[in-house]
Amino acid sequence: MKVWTSLLFIAATSLASPSFAGDADAGEEKAASCVACHGAGGAAPISPQYPILAGQYADYLAQALHQYQSGERKNAIMSGLATPLSDEDIADLAAYFASQDSPLRTLD
Ligand code: HEC
Repeated sequence: MKVWTSLLFIAATSLASPSFAGDADAGEEKAASCVACHGAGGAAPISPQYPILAGQYADYLAQALHQYQSGERKNAIMSGLATPLSDEDIADLAAYFASQDSPLRTLD
């Protein structure tokens, strides 16, 4: 019985965290330069022109960073910052910002 419970747990967690998932702790260290504009945890940008990253879907954040790298998405600031990032850096940064509490709330 215990074995089956463990197997189920392993199956569930491997489904929940695919192998390309980033490491949020590593991402926190890599985010030192990002928080200058996006604010602590990506939750308090220094200007409304800078997007809130906290609580955003990790795959959305990662896609945006890959698009700044490829030039598919153009922004003078972010293209320069995204260019030197490795795929692992992007996965880690995306995992970190996704794990942060978002100040965004449903408008009700
Ligand atoms: C000098 C200020 C500045 C810094 C530093 C900065 N960003 Fe940005 N970031 C911006 C601006 C401005 C935008 C909006 C660009 C646009 O309109 O496409 C943006 C957009 C983004 C987006 C897209 C968000 C969305 O909602 O579509 C991501 C993801 C992002 N930044 C991640 C990062 C990461 C990761 C770092 C650190 C490596 C970083 N940024 C550092 C200013 C900055």
